[in-house]
Amino acid sequence: MRFDGKTVLVTGAAGGFGSRMAEVFSNLGARMVLSDMDGDGLRDVTRALSGDAVALAGDVTDPAYHHDLVDLAQTEFGALDVAVNNAGIVQPMQRIPDTDPALAQRVIDVDLMGVFYALQAQLPVMASRFEDEGTPAAIVNIASAAGLIGSPFLAIYAAAKHGVVGLTRSAAAEYGLKGVRVNAVCPSFANTTMLTDYLEASPKSREATQSALTRNIPMARVGQVDEVVQAILFAASAQNSFMTGETLSVDGGLTAV
Ligand SMILES: NC(=O)c1ccc[n+]([C@@H]2O[C@H](COP(=O)([O-])OP(=O)(O)OC[C@H]3O[C@@H](n4cnc5c(N)ncnc54)[C@H](O)[C@@H]3O)[C@@H](O)[C@H]2O)c1
Repeated sequence: MRFDGKTVLVTGAAGGFGSRMAEVFSNLGARMVLSDMDGDGLRDVTRALSGDAVALAGDVTDPAYHHDLVDLAQTEFGALDVAVNNAGIVQPMQRIPDTDPALAQRVIDVDLMGVFYALQAQLPVMASRFEDEGTPAAIVNIASAAGLIGSPFLAIYAAAKHGVVGLTRSAAAEYGLKGVRVNAVCPSFANTTMLTDYLEASPKSREATQSALTRNIPMARVGQVDEVVQAILFAASAQNSFMTGETLSVDGGLTAV
């Protein structure tokens, strides 16, 4: 899989899956448009890349920010070939009645509306280029295993991620004839800051929490960042030209049983 000359937009690029994606896509020849609300982190990631890369800091809950990112891809590199809508937050583990409504709203705003606004900005320019030049494009939304099955104590996060799966399937259906494939990657717990913060916030010991998280996973471990990034590359690759509306589970078998 190569991405030579392709323009790839990644949100949430300052850490976790996003910063590794920036590195791997860039090493595979892509020109990167990087997005995150952490401006300092974004600058560090961008500077570390050897290939062409531009960055714009902002919050994915702002619809105008997504239009600015798409404009940046077009003005700097002439087009947008791939978008990975990855920025996200998780909630603390809590029962539904204990979850603060303002925090729940923020999870919906970032994890669900952030992807919706991204699709609103990305789909028309990708479809229009396909109509003009016949060049197809791909969008990969990062959902979660919590977007496919119920997740006790993570209800609002699960609701947002189920929403991302719904957006993915619906967008795939709307844009099947317009040259844009839209797929979702659904990791279970993987080794990023999100997981570390989550383990640290738990009232139980880190070991006890991690063992509870992996108890129902047939492979009995958390995922590694590169294991998730490989699935994202596959979903984004132009060679993978007939897969759309799909949810790729990268979860050690969690959702298979
Ligand atoms: N790590 C896991 O265990 C796991 C499992 C399943 C799904 N996911 C999903 O993968 C995606 C990436 O998660 P990660 O583990 O790399 O997390 P992370 O916390 O390491 O990185 C997320 C990045 O998103 C950015 N971000 C957060 N809110 C933002 C906002 N409103 N606007 C712009 N940027 C924002 C953060 O600054 C951060 O750089 C998320 O959508 C997450 O829900 C993660």
